Amino acid sequence: MKYNAVLGEWLATLGKAVVAGRLVKVVCSKPGPLAGDLKSVDVRPIIVKRALKLSFTFHHKTRDVVKNYSPEESEGVLARLVSESFMAARIFTMDADWLLLRREKQFSALKEAATQTAAPNLTHDRPKQRLIESGGKAYLQALGLTDASGQVLKSAQDKFRQINKYIEIVDGLVKALPQKSLKIADMGSGKGYLTFALYDHLVNTLGRTVEMVGVEFRPELVMLCNDIATAAGFKGLRFVQGTIADYDCAGVDVVIALHACDTATDDALAKAIKAGAGLVVVAPCCHKQVRREMGKAEGLEFMLQYGTYMERMAEMVTDGLRAKLLELSGYETNLFEFISDAHTPKNVMIVGTRKGPLKENERARIEGEIAGAKARFGIAALALEKMLGGR
Ligand SMILES: C[S@@+](CC[C@H](N)C(=O)[O-])C[C@H]1O[C@@H](n2cnc3c(N)ncnc32)[C@H](O)[C@@H]1O
Repeated sequence: MKYNAVLGEWLATLGKAVVAGRLVKVVCSKPGPLAGDLKSVDVRPIIVKRALKLSFTFHHKTRDVVKNYSPEESEGVLARLVSESFMAARIFTMDADWLLLRREKQFSALKEAATQTAAPNLTHDRPKQRLIESGGKAYLQALGLTDASGQVLKSAQDKFRQINKYIEIVDGLVKALPQKSLKIADMGSGKGYLTFALYDHLVNTLGRTVEMVGVEFRPELVMLCNDIATAAGFKGLRFVQGTIADYDCAGVDVVIALHACDTATDDALAKAIKAGAGLVVVAPCCHKQVRREMGKAEGLEFMLQYGTYMERMAEMVTDGLRAKLLELSGYETNLFEFISDAHTPKNVMIVGTRKGPLKENERARIEGEIAGAKARFGIAALALEKMLGGR
């Protein structure tokens, strides 16, 4: 493609810097009248699948869009950006900065002393600081998440991300609990991915004294997890076989239930509330109990006739009411997505922090809200409410 001479020379400088591995970045700034909502563009060299690319981040007013181009394609993309959308652009190399300015169709260029001399980081995904590191943790390998060298297996990337996100959240919540020594029950602990990671973080990173029990009704998982805990030297961690409903929670400070199926989440919430646990963290799973009841919701047939909407509504109604029942029991509650739904659709977390008894007028207000919601959605009985001794 034939460019204006000044622009052509500026692009050639860029090409040489790319080939020599001296390019740090390019920034297009000063948007012109044709830029629309595009505010600026940053370009940096990266390696994708062993090939050198230039990664363009288009900063729009309300979002960023990232696109990767080969060095050859990048020349044309940059030429268009500086000819149509931007009045200025700067190539930062480790040797010099090359400024390009445009006034209508006239370009001028200027060489300036290098302002960025550090070699660029060519990794595609910049490494993230994680609370649980993968290296040197035998339990992660025993659980099938890492290889012998401590690398997270490709198939376990999502799970590992989920574990770290969960630890990040619980880390902040547990730090707010005053007692140094904590009794924790993990209800429906399954294969124990999150149980091990939390114990490891609390004991080995935060230095807390922890007595943690994973409650699980599948005996083979209980046996496996106890073996891994022993091999890891996690003295305060054990797993017991049984149901959540039968587990004695007396004296427990923290109750956790992650993806405990259907009303098993309610069992865990009821146990936490009755034991007066200071912190309860649940990520509910399926919502069959309320779903069955909601089939009778009058006036909502126009959307609840569709399975997808019925599913979503059952989830929102169940978890909204669970949070309300926690409030009624003296907990301050929060409900949020703890991880992107790209990783798991079961991504809602309910957190309750114990505050103590409610004033009578607060109690009446919350009871009214619960009764109103039940009537609106045609729910005669709510599992958690019944467990707590209500209707
Ligand atoms: C989906 S898995 C989640 C495991 C783990 N919490 C996690 O997030 O990786 C749910 C586990 O809870 C167990 N479970 C479900 N209901 C239970 C109950 N009422 N009592 C004990 N365990 C239960 C199941 O056997 C299963 O292992």
